[in-house]
Amino acid sequence: MHPEETVLILDFGSQYTQLIARRIREAGVYSEIQPYTLPVQEIRALQPTGIVLSGGPASVCDPDSPGVDAEIFSLGIPILGICYGMQLMAKALGGDVVPAQNREYGRAELSLLARNAVWTNMRDDGLTVWMSHGDRVIRPPDGFTVLARTDQVEIAAMADPDRKLYALQFHPEVAHTEDGDQILRNFLFEIVQAKPSWTMASFVQSVLDEVPAQVGSSQVVCGLSGGIDSTVVAALLHQAIGKQLHCIFVDNGLLRADEGEEVVQYLRKYFDLNLRYVQAQDIFLSRLHGVHDPEEKRKIIGNTFIEVFEQEATSIPGVRFLAQGTLYPDVIESVSFKGPSAVIKSHHNVGGLPEKMNLELIEPLRELFKDEVRKVAMELGLPDFLVWRHPFPGPGLAIRVIGEITPQRLEILRRADKIVQHELMASGWYFKIWQGFAVLLPLKTVGVMGDERTYEHVIALRAVESKDAMTADWARLPDDLLARISNRIINEVKGVNRVVLDISSKPPSTIEWE
Ligand code: XMP
Repeated sequence: MHPEETVLILDFGSQYTQLIARRIREAGVYSEIQPYTLPVQEIRALQPTGIVLSGGPASVCDPDSPGVDAEIFSLGIPILGICYGMQLMAKALGGDVVPAQNREYGRAELSLLARNAVWTNMRDDGLTVWMSHGDRVIRPPDGFTVLARTDQVEIAAMADPDRKLYALQFHPEVAHTEDGDQILRNFLFEIVQAKPSWTMASFVQSVLDEVPAQVGSSQVVCGLSGGIDSTVVAALLHQAIGKQLHCIFVDNGLLRADEGEEVVQYLRKYFDLNLRYVQAQDIFLSRLHGVHDPEEKRKIIGNTFIEVFEQEATSIPGVRFLAQGTLYPDVIESVSFKGPSAVIKSHHNVGGLPEKMNLELIEPLRELFKDEVRKVAMELGLPDFLVWRHPFPGPGLAIRVIGEITPQRLEILRRADKIVQHELMASGWYFKIWQGFAVLLPLKTVGVMGDERTYEHVIALRAVESKDAMTADWARLPDDLLARISNRIINEVKGVNRVVLDISSKPPSTIEWE
């Protein structure tokens, strides 16, 4: 992928760095995140048309704080420093920065003090902006003009238009900042003079141009999971290389009712894919027999998947590539300032397969955020039920049947979950939430049905709102919907006499129960 122009974001570890990249891309300009340690020669080689210095938790007053080679300020490339990026710019160019007694966190009111291209189409005062900083600039470097203040901070924005250097103490990328998008657009279109050429149509076209050249006459294998990422990879590569793509769908016996088949049927019907449906339920379930521990379940499922997939893939002659639906956040995670974040749960993927089978990777989505993948899916004409499908974990229902996994317990969960999915769809809530599903608990409770005492299973209902699954809040589903789901599960699913609602947010809970 070689977009016409790139705005480079140097990451100093802010929790908002990815948000900056998304906002810039939403404005139609490709942006890429790199660690702040990227040497200046490499920055030059990337030929960015603009650079953003992100925020970060450090203090420039600390001698060990992360910095950049001051040469970047004289490359002639427009630079926008945000928060830590502003303090860094001020310090590097000879201004004064002091540590604050208290960290200022939250909303502040911005007053503009000077006209500037960065304020194009904005009001002069009373703008709410989002602050999160300790240090502040008390004297700008020579050549800089103070552009704005707040009641707490005298220098809330500054610029040296001749050198095309701009800096903001607040966070324009955060939704709480009024006109934040406008400020970023002003930087992109008034100062960098970028062209909004990053669209999903241009992205799709670049994949169609580049992948056939990369693949030549070799064969490509792709694991289809039923989720949006692998489905988009398959649809995209099918369009690029047709029958040289071989998709493998492994049914591990841990899918929800109708999950998988729907996707497979659709892809077969509309895309005429080379697609193998591997029935591997027995091997997965027999290996999971008697296993309770969640990590153990994940390991067994991951290893068995690799085994089954490898066996199937090696039976295809001429395979040289493995296509995967890796997304940009996974890529950044491994290169960014923070380094790989701690693994909270080992996620199931085909890690290890490429080396083992001596395959080269094709990751056509590695530059994209999830919302961009959805747009590509729409661009490719995939139907809503695929585009807006809730994420479904690789280990499937194994981590939603808490405790022992048996065919009977899986069946109870499938029936309950089907009701949950149906009711979420029918009420329109499916499209408003990130995920909604049923969990089968490892305990029985007493109930009464008719004249009889029962002693049956408990289903928990989990529904969350989230933007990226990193944090989540439990969805406030309406009472009547909850009542309908509960009544239907208890009446229609044999073996269940109680439904409970999960009202925990992430953190400290996780979205899945295991
Ligand atoms: P947690 O439970 O960690 O989940 O809050 C965050 C998101 O990741 C999904 N998830 C998984 N996906 N393999 C996957 O492919 C896994 O092992 C796995 N565990 C959790 C989960 O559904 C949610 O969207």
